[in-house]
Amino acid sequence: MSILQTLILCSFLLSASHAAVQDFCVGDLSAPEGPAGYSCKKVSAVTVNDFVFSGLGVAGNTSNLIKAAVTPALINQFPGLNGFGISLARLDIAPGGVIPLHTHPGGSEVLLVLQGSICAGFISSSVNTIYLKTLNKGDSMIFPQGLLHFQMNAVKGPGLAIVSFSSPSPGLQILDFALLANNFPSELVEATTFLDDAQVKKLKGVLGGTG
Ligand SMILES: *[C@@H]1O[C@H](CO)[C@@H](O)[C@H](O)[C@H]1NC(C)=O
Repeated sequence: MSILQTLILCSFLLSASHAAVQDFCVGDLSAPEGPAGYSCKKVSAVTVNDFVFSGLGVAGNTSNLIKAAVTPALINQFPGLNGFGISLARLDIAPGGVIPLHTHPGGSEVLLVLQGSICAGFISSSVNTIYLKTLNKGDSMIFPQGLLHFQMNAVKGPGLAIVSFSSPSPGLQILDFALLANNFPSELVEATTFLDDAQVKKLKGVLGGTG
């Protein structure tokens, strides 16, 4: 092989190995999000702060209807997560509080209780089995992607948990809000569920639904 051929081969191998390696793709939140996440911020504009999120040390405000607060560290708060298939959030649940039945269409969840005691459960989609457990400090539970699940405070003191998702954008749909906190016409809610007119009117009043 001539020296020229060797040089050409070496430069080809070098450029091929560069093309195969990408350490990260910090999300450029100014561009639209696609199914594979955000496009990459220019590497020259990336700083360590893109890989750090400091919001989970502060308790969320639980003075609300559900007496609970979710503090997210998802792609929109933490753009360094882009492309890694992970994210996290903090749950504060006051006594009597609940994260109502909901699903995350885009990711599975794992929960770790740090304080108090949390009753949690999910419902399988195939035969509607309910998997229920009261979790204490140090206990973890997983909630499979897309399945209905809930968490509620099981004791008189505050509950605190950290959850992690298998997606930087797991999504959230709360069952009662989907049925009763929008303008889904009452007669159709009644026709497509087993709720009666009095229940639908009352719950729409509580949850801010119309129609
Ligand atoms: C918590 O939220 C309630 C209701 O929105 C509000 O009145 C209260 O000031 C908030 N508390 C704090 C500490 O932000």
